Amino acid sequence: MHLEETETMHRKITDGVYYVGVDDHHTALFENLWPLPFGVSYNSYLVVDDKIAVIDTVKNIFTQEWLDNIREIVDPEKIDYIVLNHMEPDHTGALPKIAELAKNATIVFTQKAAGMEESFYNVGLKTKVVEDLEELSLGKKTLKFVHVQFVHWPETMATYLAEDEVLFSCDAFGSFGALNGKHFDDEIDMRMIESESKRYLSTIITSYFKFVQRAIEKVKGLGVGIKFIAPSHGPIYRKDPTWVIDHFDKWSSPELDKHVTIIFGSMYGYNLRLAHTLKKELVELGVEVKIHNISYSTMDNVITDAVRAGVIVLGTPTYDAFPFPKIWAFVNEMEGKRFQKRPIALFGTHGWGGGGVRKLKKYLEENKFEILEPNVRCRATPTEEERQAIKTLAKNIAEIVK
Ligand SMILES: Cc1cc2nc3c(=O)[nH]c(=O)nc-3n(C[C@H](O)[C@H](O)[C@H](O)COP(=O)(O)O)c2cc1C
Ligand SMILES: [Fe+2]
Ligand SMILES: [Fe+2]
Repeated sequence: MHLEETETMHRKITDGVYYVGVDDHHTALFENLWPLPFGVSYNSYLVVDDKIAVIDTVKNIFTQEWLDNIREIVDPEKIDYIVLNHMEPDHTGALPKIAELAKNATIVFTQKAAGMEESFYNVGLKTKVVEDLEELSLGKKTLKFVHVQFVHWPETMATYLAEDEVLFSCDAFGSFGALNGKHFDDEIDMRMIESESKRYLSTIITSYFKFVQRAIEKVKGLGVGIKFIAPSHGPIYRKDPTWVIDHFDKWSSPELDKHVTIIFGSMYGYNLRLAHTLKKELVELGVEVKIHNISYSTMDNVITDAVRAGVIVLGTPTYDAFPFPKIWAFVNEMEGKRFQKRPIALFGTHGWGGGGVRKLKKYLEENKFEILEPNVRCRATPTEEERQAIKTLAKNIAEIVK
């Protein structure tokens, strides 16, 4: 297979099992929120046996390319089952078109997905609602449906192909980054996959870490072999399927990491200087620090570095009697993404009445976050006493994470 002709081509996974997904180098922001500097793939799979099943579709603008991939293997009109693991339009956008072609196909999905399909598309094909762990024979091959609620939506399931030991895991174990003809973990630079899959998990599925943990337990509890993990975004794992299970397990685990993440806003540099002073103190105490200026780090990277931090430090100037708007926006993400409760440290500067740090503290305490003492609040340049307070704060933070 030559790379110059692979972009729209299928790829064989094992006998009768094919990758027919597409790369997206067009969408700038996933969900119109999260940057895609390396693109993204929408993975779809074809299982060819006495009956033919397609597993998930692709985002609607790539429908033609996807159909071309399928046509290299079978006539789309001959498809018997359209398995929809997840109703999000990045995986179901091509459903109306395949429904026009494969008029005799049956859509296979969960009860919750059925309700969504009616309101999203209502294509009018035959449907088969599957229970958790229900099986469907394709002839010699058998599909088993494993409900994995809230990875990523309430209707989500994974599909296990028993004879070939392939787990089509949908959004679980996915990654950002287009594939560009390299579909397998042994063909890709895993350093890139490590950072792109962590960023994917931390931005898309953050609110549902608990459900990721449950899904991993459930998959392990099936007691079946897994030779391939074939998710709905990113590479297929065949060399080392446990790599992705273990990493997703670690990244979604309730046990936080030992690093500290400082996130600050600053208009004229006062908070920047405080942030650097605190960073220096922490580093001297042997603490690993990640630091983001909220005005030019993108929110996806801030969230990825903050979500597992043992302590999060927020620094803010007072801005029209409130915290710096972008810091407020991050705090809002912490709530929306259901960040696990953990100690938060605060610092800030003000010109007159202040209010930035005070309002952050009130809001975070109302949301059950513990606020570490002391809150360092200065008028522009810190006094000697305030410098001492930074040292004390650094010590208190270090005690928690070390
Ligand atoms: C647009 C703007 C609005 C501000 N609003 C307030 C305010 O409502 N209350 C206050 O005490 N200080 C206010 N300040 C003063 C800043 O909080 C103060 O100068 C701070 O030290 C700036 O820190 P920075 O350089 O890290 O942004 C304001 C400053 C600016 C530029
Ligand atoms: Fe999704
Ligand atoms: Fe997805």
